[in-house]
This record gives sequence, C-alpha cells and structure tokens, in this order.
Amino acid sequence: MEESSSRVDRTGLLALAVDIAREAGALARRRRAEGVAVAATKSTLADVVTEADREVEDLVRARLAAARPGDAILGEEGGATGAPAGDPTGITWVVDPIDGTVNYLYGIPHYAVSIAAVTGEPTAARWQQQVGVVYQPVTDELFHATRGGGAWLGDQRLHVGAPTAAGALVATGFGYDPATHEGDFARLRRVMPLARDIRRAGAASLDLAYVAAGRLDGYFERGLHPWDHAAGGLLVVEAGGRVGGMPDGAPGREMTIAAGPELFERISSAVYQ
Ligand code: IPD
Ligand code: CA
Repeated sequence: MEESSSRVDRTGLLALAVDIAREAGALARRRRAEGVAVAATKSTLADVVTEADREVEDLVRARLAAARPGDAILGEEGGATGAPAGDPTGITWVVDPIDGTVNYLYGIPHYAVSIAAVTGEPTAARWQQQVGVVYQPVTDELFHATRGGGAWLGDQRLHVGAPTAAGALVATGFGYDPATHEGDFARLRRVMPLARDIRRAGAASLDLAYVAAGRLDGYFERGLHPWDHAAGGLLVVEAGGRVGGMPDGAPGREMTIAAGPELFERISSAVYQ
C-alpha cells in the first residue's frame, strides 16, 4: 500500500539517510585519499564516472535495501530500481553518490553525497520530497531537511539570505555538453546585473544547500537531473526559499532556480527575459 504523505515516518527516514550519507561520505573520502581515476565517460568526454562513484552508490543501495526492502531507488549510476511487486511502500530514494565528481577527480574537496526520500513519481513535477540530506565529507557538514520540519546544519536552523544593495551572490553551473554553453553564457549575461559576484563551485547539491544556509543568495542552472536537486531543493524550500524551473514550472533539466522569494522572481525574469 502506498503511504499517504501524512503517514510517512520522516523521522525514521531521516535517521537512515543521515547514517548512510555519513558512511558513504567516509568511503568516498577514503577512496579519494587512495587515488582516483576515471572509470568511464557518460554523456560527453567531460562527463565522467569514477570507480568510487559506483562503489559509493552500491554501498548506499545495499544499506537502503537491507533497511527498507520495499522502497524504490533512483541513483545516478545505477538508474531506477523498482520496489518489489506486492510490497511497495510508496517511497523512492533519489541518490547522487558523489555530486561534484569532476571536483572529486581533481582533488578539490567540494563534493557531497546527496540522498532524498520522495513520495510520488521520482520526477520534480510529481514528487513530494519527504527528507533530504546533503553531506560534505571533507568539511564534515551535514545539511538535512524534512518536509514541514525545517532545514538544518547540525542543530542550527537554516534560513535563506536576502541580497543587500551590493547585489546577490549567485551560483550557477555549465552542463557537460558544449552545445549548450552559448545559451548558458547568454543567461549568465542577463543575470549578471543582479549579482555582486558569481560562483561556479561544481556541485549542484551543495549550491542548493548553500542557498538554504544563506552562504549564497541564489542559484540557477540548466541541465540538472533529479538526483542533483532532490535533497538540496527540499533544503531551500524548508529554509524559506523557492525552487522552480521554467515560469510556474518545476525544477528540472530545462532550468532550476533557487533563492529567497524576491530574488527568485528577479533571477527568473532575467533568465526568461
Ligand atoms: C554535476 C554537478 C555540477 C553540475 C552538473 C551536475 P555530478 O553532478 O552537480 O555542479 O553543473 O550539472 O551533473 O556529475 O558531479 O554528479
Ligand atoms: Ca554524481
């Protein structure tokens, strides 16, 4: 039987996600210290996967399957695994084992494990994010949120920031496909007048977690997959911000915008000007 949103045990799901994210992050960090190499390329030559991405996702999948065998999983490296017939819980785990893989490959410590539990179909137009965890192993910072329960960094409650007269600190990203870059640059040029400065840090889940924490004022990027923003998007909303895509649309491949409500509108107008 599918669980209705009100009956979801968010406390239990969060505790599990936190445990697994910490274990997965520790494994990623260990493997990084041992040395990392590209295992394969994906959509383009720049879009890489390492053995560690696969191993960390395998660990997350094994832990989830052992703890909650009736749940479905959507992971960046392993794709969609349905719940067993006859015993679905209605929960899908949306997992990015290492977000910021290129940083990871180059030894830049800005990468994270991102784990969300959603009800509904695991696509942003249809899901309800129930819990989200973004764990940055190198800083040992664990951002977490539950639906209706706020967004937190440890025991500190998070609130999105509001830009000052100096302008907004805005993060963005550029997809791996060179064919999309002209459009990315044109959008960036239109957003630039709102910005005091721009960041391109290389991990979408952390961009979103940092918006939730007020470390960034806003963020926009084309080309994200569900695992890039499932957990981070909940963090932003629970920190009082807005997350969306095309005007009045859900976040996704076409566009993801995250910011406090007022800046959200201004970024959206600039992106779609
Ligand atoms: C990528 C990062 C990057 C963003 C890309 C994502 P990955 O995820 O989040 O910041 O610009 O769109 O695909 O490949 O490192 O898991
Ligand atoms: Ca990844």
